[in-house]
Amino acid sequence: MVIRQILTAEEPILRERARRVTHFDASLHRLLDDMLETMRDAPGIGLAANQIGVPLQVAIIELEDEITELINPQIVRASGEVIDWEGCLSVPGFVAEVKRHAKVTVKARDRHGKEFRVKGEELFARALQHEIDHLNGILYIDYLDSLEELVRVSERPSEVEEAATASI
Ligand code: NI
Repeated sequence: MVIRQILTAEEPILRERARRVTHFDASLHRLLDDMLETMRDAPGIGLAANQIGVPLQVAIIELEDEITELINPQIVRASGEVIDWEGCLSVPGFVAEVKRHAKVTVKARDRHGKEFRVKGEELFARALQHEIDHLNGILYIDYLDSLEELVRVSERPSEVEEAATASI
């Protein structure tokens, strides 16, 4: 496994829609393995392939020791709204409050091409929406009225716990 460089927000590849995966082969598995290593090293709880320069619809999330690999993911159901803190490995050092759906159901394929559905709420729902946005060229900062809403992680309000500002 190889730790790859994580690109930051100004890189054009982060603004392009990633391509659908059609081959569920060894190179996809290597990509997923490298993404896990890179995400853990960062450290973060989510990573999309275009963040390491690969424009494919591939993302991973790791929460509470559970790894979710998402190939060609799509939100098929969403409900509720919740505002919470959010950070991104491509916007290092900052967080902001972002409104997201409270619950989502996502349809995706696994590394072998098998279709599955996964339901998420709380931080997992937020991570699913954040990663699918990445694959569509969207960053969370796009939802802010102004970049002045960004808060340095080190200066976040004291009641905000570290886990709430994990980078995704
Ligand atoms: Ni991100």
